[in-house]
Amino acid sequence: MANVVVVGAQWGDEGKGKIVDWLSIEADIVVRFQGGHNAGHTLVIGNQVYKLALLPSGIVRPGKLSVIGNGVVLDPHHLVDEIAKISAQGVKVTPDNLKIADNVTLILALHRELDAHRESASVAGVKIGTTKRGIGPAYEDKVGRRAIRLMDLAEPDSLDEKIDRLLAHHDPLRRGLGLEPVTRAAIRAELEDVAPKVLPYMDAVWDLLETARRDGKRILFEGAQGALLDVDHGTYPFVTSSNTVAANAATGSGLGPKAIGYVLGIAKAYTTRVGGGPFPTELHDETGQRLGDRGHEFGTNTGRRRRCGWFDAVLVRQTVKTSGIDGIALTKLDILDGFEEIKVCVGYLLDGARVNRFPASQAAQARVTPIYETMEGWAGTTAGARSWAELPAQAIKYVRRIEELIEAPVALLSTSPERADTILVHNPFRD
Ligand code: GDP
Ligand code: IMO
Ligand code: MG
Repeated sequence: MANVVVVGAQWGDEGKGKIVDWLSIEADIVVRFQGGHNAGHTLVIGNQVYKLALLPSGIVRPGKLSVIGNGVVLDPHHLVDEIAKISAQGVKVTPDNLKIADNVTLILALHRELDAHRESASVAGVKIGTTKRGIGPAYEDKVGRRAIRLMDLAEPDSLDEKIDRLLAHHDPLRRGLGLEPVTRAAIRAELEDVAPKVLPYMDAVWDLLETARRDGKRILFEGAQGALLDVDHGTYPFVTSSNTVAANAATGSGLGPKAIGYVLGIAKAYTTRVGGGPFPTELHDETGQRLGDRGHEFGTNTGRRRRCGWFDAVLVRQTVKTSGIDGIALTKLDILDGFEEIKVCVGYLLDGARVNRFPASQAAQARVTPIYETMEGWAGTTAGARSWAELPAQAIKYVRRIEELIEAPVALLSTSPERADTILVHNPFRD
């Protein structure tokens, strides 16, 4: 019985939340290992819709342990709000079913402010289009060794020193940007207010997970964002500030690499992206509009319309490699129902020559044009299909062609937002 890591294989919003929720029935523990509340995961269970940003998607299943690992950046105020929101929907969140790593980095108000300021100060073309939730600035402080971490809230006597270390960096930066100074007292007040609400969830997560693993408990690692937003392997600088690839499930939760069993990549049957950056198969025409309308492609957090385009097999093949993906969950196949023809990008032209991978250089990325293969669409519908036998023959052909092109098998197919509308081809936990 392997542990399973779920990662986005494109630019996020592939349907990770739905698949993690579906798989979590087989798991004992669901762990978030990177990112923060920049994620937006929508779960549809019967007539209930849950929108999660920071809490692991396993939280909605009674009896499961949810864990926020050290690799996450945690906005404690957001956490309190999200717990209140989901509790109002009848989901129980207590220190018994939610554990947060003691060494997790905190997002503070000054990080949110800096993120928003940088975004509003940058111009089209170079604007990242972040979620303005302070993710990037908080990771910068972590790597800069001046972050405030969760366990620091339990040691108020030494908090001032840590705040001063943080401000030694932020004071001159804010002055230079023309932002009002932040006082030590203001940060202290911000932290003291929230400390009693979040400290009850604190635990030594690495230890707890290792013990659970030895006891034969099954762990499901829930990735946020997607491999193309990875800070090393994504479309830099149009990326998020963490490693989103599967290997980070180990580092971001405090386990060794052998704790990762099966790597399940989630990919949409087409492509979307929110925010700036290259997107070779983006469609600026009616077809792109149609994909967005049919797929309800609006950001869960920010409400921004997602950019849409055809499936890019070159990019997904690349993420299959950078994440070591064993199998794919292909989602939103139903959105392609009714299209007369469907295109798939199978390579690029770069300065007149064919290339079979996305170049690393920003300038070259902007110059590639996609080479498409055109497939016939299907007349029937895949929406709501729960077995392979219900799929139109042409839809099966499309799935098979994608498998070939990305060099990974399809383990799951998703045909609607609803939990139960999922076709199992291969169970990742029983690899
Ligand atoms: P995540 O960030 O990867 O968890 O994905 P999001 O939740 O941001 O976006 C995926 C959206 O598509 C959500 O609104 C899901 O409810 C929905 N969704 C997931 N799978 C399917 C599917 O197979 N078909 C359709 N039509 N919608 C889906
Ligand atoms: P889920 O988990 C899609 C994008 C932002 C922006 C870039 C950097 O729902 O798939 P950040 O706020 O992280 O510094 O923004 O990354 N981005 C996402 N796009 N889905 C997400 O999460 C994303 N999280 C961040 O739009 O382009
Ligand atoms: Mg999302």
